[in-house]
Amino acid sequence: MKMPAIAIREEIQQHGVMPFARFMELALYHPETGYYEKQRDNVGRAGDFITSVSVGSLFGELLAFQFAEWLEAEVQSPKSKVQIVEAGAHDGKLAADILRWLQIHRPKLFAEIEYVILEPSLRRQEWQRETLEKYPNVRWFDGFENLKLKTQNSKLHGVLFGNELLDAFPVRRFGWDANAKNWFEWGVALVGEKFTWAKILPTSSPSAIRHLPSALLAVLPDNYTIELCPAAENWWRAAAGIFTRGKLLAIDYGFTADEQISPARVNGTLRAYSKHQVSDDLLAQPGEQDLTAHVNFSTLQKAGEEVGWQTELFCTQPQFLTQILQKAVQEKSFADWNAPRARQFQTLTHPEHLGRAFRVLVQSRA
Ligand SMILES: C[S@@+](CC[C@H](N)C(=O)[O-])C[C@H]1O[C@@H](n2cnc3c(N)ncnc32)[C@H](O)[C@@H]1O
Repeated sequence: MKMPAIAIREEIQQHGVMPFARFMELALYHPETGYYEKQRDNVGRAGDFITSVSVGSLFGELLAFQFAEWLEAEVQSPKSKVQIVEAGAHDGKLAADILRWLQIHRPKLFAEIEYVILEPSLRRQEWQRETLEKYPNVRWFDGFENLKLKTQNSKLHGVLFGNELLDAFPVRRFGWDANAKNWFEWGVALVGEKFTWAKILPTSSPSAIRHLPSALLAVLPDNYTIELCPAAENWWRAAAGIFTRGKLLAIDYGFTADEQISPARVNGTLRAYSKHQVSDDLLAQPGEQDLTAHVNFSTLQKAGEEVGWQTELFCTQPQFLTQILQKAVQEKSFADWNAPRARQFQTLTHPEHLGRAFRVLVQSRA
């Protein structure tokens, strides 16, 4: 079994400096030994970082309530199936929280739901199948291509969503050479056994940074670094292509394009996480620590709008969850408020916890 570090070393020895996006791809998703391939328990209190899902079942229950409201309008006649498509389902916990709530509180709708998990990794599919074994209405696809192939004749409509999915996509890292007034791409080189940063020159910089105003470029310090994630943008565009109508929902930490380009944020947003400690040593121990960057929501918004989707909502996680809860308190299940649930809601929305950086984007097509 080849460790990501060995695979990365061999590839650098063969082809020279490796673009950082490839390093991140191998570190996180190398078959068998990538960070997300081998560790099931890395999400949660006993792991490396918490997500809204690991806080408790309330997050999934609030999403289920919102999905029900969106989907009930779609199910006009019995047997008109609707789809909930989740990507980045990890061990299937969020899917289980959503399905459990729907089964108990919206049994009629539940009978018409196909829950689709988009999961390229067979290992993670196994974890998800274990968690979700009592739900026969769950289907797995390794990506959009197969989903489209298998459902060619039936038109999909429903909700597609991912929680903390896009922050885990490999990013390209660009740096600003203040003397040459040029962008370069950060790559990874080998010095002895150690991975080090190297500049890839010349680079054809994407238009997002090529066309920045010269007054702004003039104040950027040397080696000012920014991440771009074409993979996330492409994924969002592909997501928009699978539904005839429905909603796309991304929940993640991130910002708008304008907020991203702050001269004060000189090293970008990429961070490594291990045992709840954050580190800037992104090249250390590939496969042993999580690597993650803020999501640029403006690029997603634009990608969806270019293919005919409308932006319905872009707000913070606290705003999104609070407006769901305000509607949901009419339900007995949410009206029975107890201390553990109140604590979960606080963790999901308080600025010192998950409420500060998390944003929500909803796009729709009718
Ligand atoms: C930060 S974890 C979040 C897990 C879970 N959604 C949660 O909120 O607890 C990111 C997950 O996205 C998965 N992932 C990354 N790229 C993916 C892709 N193209 N399709 C589906 N899942 C992907 C990773 O394997 C990992 O399980």
